[in-house]
Amino acid sequence: MIGSDGAIVKTLTIEFSYHFIRMRTAIYPGSFDPLTNGHLDIIRRGSRLFDRFLVAVLENEGKAPLFSVAERMELITRCTSDMPNVAVHSFSGLLVDFMRRVDANVVVRGIRAVSDYEYELQMALMNRELHPQIETIFMLPAVEYTYVSSRLVKEVFRLGGDVARLVPPTVLESLKARLPVTVG
Ligand code: PNS
Repeated sequence: MIGSDGAIVKTLTIEFSYHFIRMRTAIYPGSFDPLTNGHLDIIRRGSRLFDRFLVAVLENEGKAPLFSVAERMELITRCTSDMPNVAVHSFSGLLVDFMRRVDANVVVRGIRAVSDYEYELQMALMNRELHPQIETIFMLPAVEYTYVSSRLVKEVFRLGGDVARLVPPTVLESLKARLPVTVG
């Protein structure tokens, strides 16, 4: 209904929606060292299903990552700039505690092959044990990315292989700047 002042009615309706309709927020957690086209594909698909889609980079320097957390966040932010409901965060500690802080109750994980399932099942059930209101949903990347992993991308790039179809151009540039190629 349009009131005598349409703008005020619209503003009040938006305010009302924010306060009384809970936004559906999903978390897509991972190491993302670095982001691959498979990750990006999951982010694009997931962002269409939720109001807010938060990519959460694990702060785990113990894994000796190639890119720092800040660098990984910057790469993800640049590669998702066309997806307005995607935001990039970092977290340490338990995933469920981070999810409580950002008021999210869905975890999205990509599953590439049956071999991923066992590990993912354990994590999903552990997260459910820790926080029974959290649901994990598994999403499939486009079939052309089902063999792509950050670990393999780094290995192949380091040995002089072509990974241009497997990572976004921004990530490829960062790999070139960071990783010396050792051929033969
Ligand atoms: O990309 P990855 O390395 O497979 O992601 C693993 C990740 C970050 C999802 C997982 O290690 C994680 O959630 N770590 C946070 C610590 C935690 O909550 N552990 C208990 C759940 S199993």
